[in-house]
Amino acid sequence: MSASFDQGIALELHKIAARRPHGDFLRPAAQLRIADHLADGPRSGTELADAIGADPDALQRFLRACAVIGLVAEVGPGRFENTELGAALRSGTVLHHVAIASSCPALRRPTEAMADAVLNGKRVIKQVLGVDRIWDYYSSHPDEDEHYAALMTVLSERTGDDLARVFDLSRFSRIVDIGGSSGVLLTRLLEAAPNLTGAVFERPAYQEAATALFAERGLSDRAEFIGGNFLDGVPGGADLYVIKHVFCDWPDEAVAKVLAHCREASEPGAVVLIIDWVLPETTEKTTKGGVAERFAGEQLHLQNFIQLLTLDGKLRTWPAFRDLLRSEGFEAGGYTPFSEGLNYIEAVRR
Ligand SMILES: C[S@@+](CC[C@H](N)C(=O)[O-])C[C@H]1O[C@@H](n2cnc3c(N)ncnc32)[C@H](O)[C@@H]1O
Repeated sequence: MSASFDQGIALELHKIAARRPHGDFLRPAAQLRIADHLADGPRSGTELADAIGADPDALQRFLRACAVIGLVAEVGPGRFENTELGAALRSGTVLHHVAIASSCPALRRPTEAMADAVLNGKRVIKQVLGVDRIWDYYSSHPDEDEHYAALMTVLSERTGDDLARVFDLSRFSRIVDIGGSSGVLLTRLLEAAPNLTGAVFERPAYQEAATALFAERGLSDRAEFIGGNFLDGVPGGADLYVIKHVFCDWPDEAVAKVLAHCREASEPGAVVLIIDWVLPETTEKTTKGGVAERFAGEQLHLQNFIQLLTLDGKLRTWPAFRDLLRSEGFEAGGYTPFSEGLNYIEAVRR
């Protein structure tokens, strides 16, 4: 899978994915490999139906819906070509996986039981996916896990670059990225700070992808993968623990546990750098920031509920983060927005 992609197109894809029913068309378009079949130029719906082995009428209707969304353009009656966005979904690309991940069962099915979640205040994943934790589901559905990892890669690539621009990494010597997926954030940080070594601490399922990425980026001598469960402990020896988009997946008790492990594993003065959404205290719409920030801002209250469905997770306000950190022996002075609606919180171990 090629890890490079256009950031603007990725954002456009996220916007489509967030709309219904528009977002529902992304996964089948990628599964049917429409982009691949149009790679050599415009084709009629009938030619495409032959190539794909599809029902001609159903495909024509599907393609016209895709044209409305912007995945293809109808260049003459019943004749279609790739748009720039559609072409970006060709197979073998990270955005192909993102398109599939956007409406995979793991992310979509839990919404069927939203009312139950409201009534019971508990995650509904057991009744819709038959597992207790989403990570158990991904462990037994490696294909879906691969699509999900691609989604996280796309979300994290720019974060790494943006963080390296605003956060001084040179004062540290070793990073551990807790729940660091297949390593894209760590690679971006290590590339920006040649004096650092680092490790991704993750579920063992990501070992192969992460080590391949480290090798591809020429970082095998500075980056390693450590498999494990952050609820049981975290690796010692780091002075910077990065934890991005992880605490939003967990209830307070679990977050407190991970912070306590970071404290046990580190020396006074070590930093836990939380990179996450910070929930606004009201639903007042923001007009500040660029398109990406505004889009992200509007999503936060939706996301805050969605985190409950599969994970018992939640978004946190700044005071909620501050109090959790304090209770586990960390001090933080505030949060800094720095990348597409994301913030960092630098918490120092007392
Ligand atoms: C929302 S993803 C965030 C990934 C990455 N930090 C990013 O932002 O791209 C949460 C990650 O936590 C990992 N994870 C979940 N439970 C874990 C556990 N108990 N121990 C270690 N990693 C875990 C998942 O595999 C997943 O990659």
